[in-house]
Amino acid sequence: PIPVIAIDGPTASGKGTVAQRVAEQLGFHYLDSGALYRLTALSALRHEVPLNDEHALSKLAEKLPCRFTGDQVWLANENVTNAIRAEEVGNTASKIAALPYVRRALVGLQLGFRQAPGLVADGRDMGTVIFPNASLKVFLTASVEARAERRYKQLIGKGFAANMANLLKDLRERDERDSQRAVAPLKPAEGAHILETSRMTADEAVEQVLKWYAA
Ligand code: CDP
Repeated sequence: PIPVIAIDGPTASGKGTVAQRVAEQLGFHYLDSGALYRLTALSALRHEVPLNDEHALSKLAEKLPCRFTGDQVWLANENVTNAIRAEEVGNTASKIAALPYVRRALVGLQLGFRQAPGLVADGRDMGTVIFPNASLKVFLTASVEARAERRYKQLIGKGFAANMANLLKDLRERDERDSQRAVAPLKPAEGAHILETSRMTADEAVEQVLKWYAA
């Protein structure tokens, strides 16, 4: 079977960076599952679909006209690489991600990323729901303060405005929503290695994941 490395963790934990670098090192494909929820959210905001209309939202998710080229993300013919990183889109993504039919609509798309020679999948439920038979499962975390700082730098770097107090509040709310929801709540998968990265550089985290994979 094609190997999968599942990397899950809370918002702004740095798993995106780590997962991407691990994929690069191994020459594996990379799945940013959060981007699919963000794309669905962006699409919903653009089409003014009410965020409680689960049916309409799951239809959007099912027919998401998305494409990934290198590190660029496309919705239909529009490059939305930066647009999906806006906080409003992230917050909306976290809300619609609690809807079971939206989650179900995105399963097939995610499974399709498992292609030779291997996949590094990054999200909340990669090891628990989507790839329960992954070769390696990692739960990557950091303190809420470290994560707020990472998110702050990321947003500023992309030209968005950011405010530390608001970010901390947002992060706590999102943690709560992601871990308390009924479907696919955020938690370490069975057999997952826990990686606490508050005092770790991204490179150190990558090294640890590669060591586990090689072991
Ligand atoms: O940047 P951040 O870590 O907040 O989010 P993301 O990984 O881009 O994902 C955006 C939202 O989608 C998260 O807040 C989650 O609620 C949701 N998500 C999910 O439910 N399951 C996944 N596998 C990935 C993301």
